[in-house]
Amino acid sequence: MKEYILSIDQGTTSIRAIFFNHDGDIVSVFAKEFSQFYPKSGWVEQDPMEMWSVTIEVIEKAMLKANIKEEEIIAIGITNQRETSIVWDKNTGVPVYNAIVWQDRRTAEYCDQLKADDPEIEAVVRNKTGLMIDSYFSGTKVKWILDNVEGARERAEKGDLIFGNVDTWIMWNLTGGKTHATDYSNASRTLMYNIHDLKWDEDLLKLLDVPASMLPKVQESSGLFGKTAKIFKREIPITGDAGDQQAATFGQCCFKKGMAKFTYGTAGVMTVNIGEKPFLSNNGLTTTIGWGLNGKVEYLLEAVAFSAGSAIQWLRDEMDMLDESPDSEYFALKTKEKSCGVYFIPAFTGLCAPYWNSYARASIVGIERGTTKNNIIRAVLESLGYQTRDMFDAFSEDLGERLSILKVDGGACNNNLLMQFTADIANVEIERPDNTETTAAGVAYLAGLAVGFWKDQDEIVQKRTVNKVFKPKMEEASQTELYDGWKRAIRANLSWAND
Ligand code: G3P
Repeated sequence: MKEYILSIDQGTTSIRAIFFNHDGDIVSVFAKEFSQFYPKSGWVEQDPMEMWSVTIEVIEKAMLKANIKEEEIIAIGITNQRETSIVWDKNTGVPVYNAIVWQDRRTAEYCDQLKADDPEIEAVVRNKTGLMIDSYFSGTKVKWILDNVEGARERAEKGDLIFGNVDTWIMWNLTGGKTHATDYSNASRTLMYNIHDLKWDEDLLKLLDVPASMLPKVQESSGLFGKTAKIFKREIPITGDAGDQQAATFGQCCFKKGMAKFTYGTAGVMTVNIGEKPFLSNNGLTTTIGWGLNGKVEYLLEAVAFSAGSAIQWLRDEMDMLDESPDSEYFALKTKEKSCGVYFIPAFTGLCAPYWNSYARASIVGIERGTTKNNIIRAVLESLGYQTRDMFDAFSEDLGERLSILKVDGGACNNNLLMQFTADIANVEIERPDNTETTAAGVAYLAGLAVGFWKDQDEIVQKRTVNKVFKPKMEEASQTELYDGWKRAIRANLSWAND
C-alpha cells in the first residue's frame, strides 16, 4: 500500500498541502493564496475562517491531484507563520477578532511604554523568552484583542475564550475542538513562554494581563497532538507541529551546532542551531526553541528580515513591474551593472534584526534620471542579499566565528542572481538543496518520526540532496563599496523613522 505524510504549511500569504512519500519526495502539492487586510497604517489582519476553509480546499485538491486516498495518509504535520494571533470562543469556534498578523505594528507604542515604565523590563523579558519587547511577537497582540474587543476580557476571564497561533487554530479545527495545543517552537515566539523552564511564565502573563486559561498545552514538536475529526472520514493522527522557520531548519537537517539556514518566504529568516544550551545575543538576534524531540530541546539563534518575498510580491502586485515573481531575475539581469547606485530598504512593516525599529518604512535612495524599472527590480533583489549580510555579521559576532555554509530554501532561493549576489556580498558559500520546500518537509519529518515512518534523524539526512552551490566571487573592494552604500541607505532610513 502507498503511504504518505501530509504537511499543512500555513504561511503568511498562502496555504499549501503537501504529501511526502517514504523517500521524502513530494508526491502532490496544492497551494492557494488567501486575503490580507490592511485596515490602518501598520495594521495587518487575516480572516481565521478563511484560513480554515482554504486549508480544507488545499488538502482536498492535493489529494485529488495525485489520487491519494485517506487510508494512505499515515500522519499529519502542521507548520505555520509564527506569532500571528487568534482568539476564539471555545464553545462556538467563532473568533472574536481577525487574526492579528506577525507583521502588524499596532502595539508598537504599548511596547515603548512598557520599556519606558520600567527600564529593567526588557532584560527580564529577554532572559525569560530570548525575545525583545516588540509588537512582532504574540503577547501584546493578545492583550490588544482583550483590551479592545467589547466583552472579550470578561469572556476570557470566564474561561470561554482561548488563544492560539495559526498551528493551534488549524489543529483545534481539524480535531473538532478536541485539541488545544502547540509545540515548544511556536510557544517560544509568543513573549509569554519561558524557554528555560518550558512553561508559560506567570510574571509575563501578569505583565501582559493575559489569563493562563486561554493558553494552549505545549508539547514536543514530534508526538501525538490529536486525531482528525474533520475533512477525513477516519481518525488520522496529527503528530508534528513546528513554526515554519524551525520546521525549515529541521528540513534542512541543521541537526548539529553551528549549522545555518536562510528561508525566503514572505519574510527572510536566518537561523543557526546552537544546541541544547540557550544563550542570548549581543547583536540583536533572538534565541528561540528549534524543536523538542525525544526528550531533547534544541535552540536556535535567529534573525528576521520582515520583508523578503513580500518585497518581490510588491513589485508584482502593487508596482505592476512583474507578471510573476520569478521574472525578477530576467529583468534584473538586463541592468548594466549591479543596481547602479540604487538602494531599496524593504521596511514595509519596520526593520527587524539587527535594527529593531517598528517605525521604519520602505525607502529607495540613489535614483537618477536614467534609473529604470530594471534597476529598481535589481535593487529589491539585492536588498535581500544585503539583509543577509547584516544578519551574517551579527551571527559571526555572537558565535565568535564566521559561518562558512548557508543552506537556503523557500521560493526566492530559485533566483540564481539573488543567490550569487548573496554569496558575494555576505562572503559565504550558499547551498541550495533539490527540495526547496524544506518547511513542509521538516514538519513531515517530525510527524513521520513520531509514528516510525522514518527511523531517526540519520535516515532523514540521507534524503537531503544538493542542487547547486554558489561560491563567493566578488572582489573585496567592490564588496566593501556596495555594502557601505547599503549602510548609508539604512542610516538615512532610520533617521527618517526616528525623526
Ligand atoms: O515569524 C514570521 C515567519 O514565521 C513568517 O514566515 O514563511 O510566512 O515568511 P513566512
